[in-house]
Amino acid sequence: MSEIPKRTRVVIIGGGPAGSLLAHLLHLRAIDSVILELRTREHVLERVRAGVIEHRSAEVLRETGVGKRMDAEGFVHEGVNLAHAGDMLRIDFQGLTGKHVTIYGQTELQKDLYDLIDADGIPLIDAAGEVHVEGIESDTPSVGFENRGAAHVIACDFVIGCDGAHGVCRDFIPRGARWSFERQYPFCWVGLLSETPPVNEELIYASHKRGFALCSMRNEHLSRYYLQGPAETTLDEWPDDRFWAELTARLPDGVADTLVTGPSIEKIVTPLRSWVSEPMRHGRLLLAGDAAHVVPPTGAKGLNLAISDVVYLVDALSGHYDNGSTTGLDEYSERALARVWKAVRFSWWMTTMLHRFPGLDDDFERRLQEAELNYLFGSENAQRAMAENYVGLPH
Ligand code: FAD
Ligand code: DHB
Repeated sequence: MSEIPKRTRVVIIGGGPAGSLLAHLLHLRAIDSVILELRTREHVLERVRAGVIEHRSAEVLRETGVGKRMDAEGFVHEGVNLAHAGDMLRIDFQGLTGKHVTIYGQTELQKDLYDLIDADGIPLIDAAGEVHVEGIESDTPSVGFENRGAAHVIACDFVIGCDGAHGVCRDFIPRGARWSFERQYPFCWVGLLSETPPVNEELIYASHKRGFALCSMRNEHLSRYYLQGPAETTLDEWPDDRFWAELTARLPDGVADTLVTGPSIEKIVTPLRSWVSEPMRHGRLLLAGDAAHVVPPTGAKGLNLAISDVVYLVDALSGHYDNGSTTGLDEYSERALARVWKAVRFSWWMTTMLHRFPGLDDDFERRLQEAELNYLFGSENAQRAMAENYVGLPH
């Protein structure tokens, strides 16, 4: 277990991808930090989540020494497929944008980041509870917390909230100084991981009258599938047999015929929502990743936004420490939110176009959904706009 220092330059709350990447990038700029993580390391490393890394995110990981295993074991995907009304459309990323995405599990990336943090000698205090932030409107903030039965306080220059969607950091911004924007979607995703060969070499996003389906993968032997389910559904309503039967029904015949099923090794239910908390900075407290914004998983943007936030933050903190400039810190929130809102829009667009909304089958919106898909299937310009967003807008 890491020794707990009394002072550091930056206290990072949350040791997920945002917090651990930030600590490593700050270390590369000779800025010391401490990470406080609520859960145990084992728990963090077991969470199965994202799989799609944008073009620029992968370059950032590579340029900062995080990308070795991603390059060796990840898969470059030069396109994705959309299935609708029995047709399949391939969105050709490479042809339309000259860019691609990389399929590499967040679980693997998290392992790589923890290995690097250990090699960097960055203290990662896991099982850190009751985090309490003080003095963010002064130049001398501090963070109190409890760890394995003892209370601790770390004095610092900056506190960075990387504590995810259920974190506490944003609550330390005074009520009158923050605003949130939210859209709940009336359905959820049921996800399944199985040791079976993926049904297709590239991802398939399927719109179907029974609901949305997504075919993804981690490698040649590990498949990841998702199904749209009712908003309040629970895992016990989704035994493997039901999941596979429903997936088969939602895929085009030619694809469903080649689906290999097998026992699930992990299953989740995840609600879908768009949510943004503004601003992303108050005094000496700055937020990054899911702590400030959540997008529905349809556009595969959450992890990638965490990475772009961290890139902006490292610029801002380097400016402060290297030449006393406050510009990066002053502009951080606006800069990050400009990119966040574009990803919120894209994820909302993908979600709205591809899912069935309960009760809207004969509605105006349903007709618009059909028109949106028909337009996309028939227009290279529309496909280029989708490709540009999917591979990731510039940082
Ligand atoms: P988190 O990963 O949530 O990490 C926050 C950390 O803070 C956690 O370790 C947590 O334990 C810790 N913490 C919480 N509270 C406290 C506290 N009080 N004190 C200390 N620590 C605390 N994104 C993509 O880009 N591509 C995808 O393909 C994709 N697919 C997804 C599929 C699913 C099913 C889901 C659920 C998400 C997906 N995402 C995807 C989103 C992505 O996983 C998240 O956006 C990403 O994990 C955000 O990273 P983070 O570090 O900001 O937050
Ligand atoms: C995966 C998750 C997503 O949300 C997505 O849009 C694509 C792939 C995945 O887990 O592989």
